Amino acid sequence: MVNGRSAGNGLAITGLSAGYGSVRVLEDISLGVSHAETVVLLGTNGNGKSTLMKCVMGMVRPSAGSIVAEIDGTSHDLIGRSTEEIVDLGIALVPEGRRLFPKLTVEENLLLGAFRPSARGAITANLDSCYETFPRLLERRRQLAGSMSGGEQQMLALGRALMSSPRILLIDEPSVGLAPILVSRTIEKIKELKDRFELTVLMAEQNFNQAVRIADRGYVIVHGQIAFEGRDADELNNNELVRKFYLGL
Ligand SMILES: Nc1ncnc2c1ncn2[C@@H]1O[C@H](COP(=O)(O)OP(=O)(O)O)[C@@H](O)[C@H]1O
Ligand SMILES: [Mg+2]
Repeated sequence: MVNGRSAGNGLAITGLSAGYGSVRVLEDISLGVSHAETVVLLGTNGNGKSTLMKCVMGMVRPSAGSIVAEIDGTSHDLIGRSTEEIVDLGIALVPEGRRLFPKLTVEENLLLGAFRPSARGAITANLDSCYETFPRLLERRRQLAGSMSGGEQQMLALGRALMSSPRILLIDEPSVGLAPILVSRTIEKIKELKDRFELTVLMAEQNFNQAVRIADRGYVIVHGQIAFEGRDADELNNNELVRKFYLGL
């Protein structure tokens, strides 16, 4: 995952609208993530965070707007591409609720993350790198994924995404269903991964306090629209909307 990485990865979403049938969920969303940045998309349940991530991954087709990814310095229009093509370009999603295969082992789950053609050649190196990053997964490599704790499963979901040698990592609510101490550890691990592999990260969260610990910048999404853009963690912490919705102040 580390070799051959060059600067020039990012995501530019402009005027994005999307929904399900006649239900409109995202309304004219514009946001960007620059190279090696961690940008958080903050929003409580049902505000459209997952829908936005699914649009980037080609799993939900937007009704308007553009999504352009820059991968190793080359721009790619993502609209109309299949999920497989998007993963192949170098974008990976760690989905909400992890979506592991509980009856497969840890290692089998990891190997399933390596279907990107260019990642197949790097399977051994990526697996080593995964085990180095998550020693717990090495200890548990033959254990069934479904028998692992929530925190371990989140590590596995992150590890599986790394197996596709991504440049851009989308992480959808990593804190969901985890005890507070594990949320904190998971967030720290994401920071470590980002630094180690120079990843460009877009993370959706409703756990404001945890997310903002590792955020370079962030957006607050309310009813499918960007309600506030914070240029740094301080701006997020001090915003009225955030204080009202997340901090109870
Ligand atoms: N597959 C779907 N079909 C219809 N409505 C959906 C579907 N997925 C999500 N929604 C609706 O879209 C809205 C946004 O959902 P979602 O993007 O999952 O929000 P979040 O991730 O912020 O909780 C919600 O009102 C939800 O009920
Ligand atoms: Mg969601």
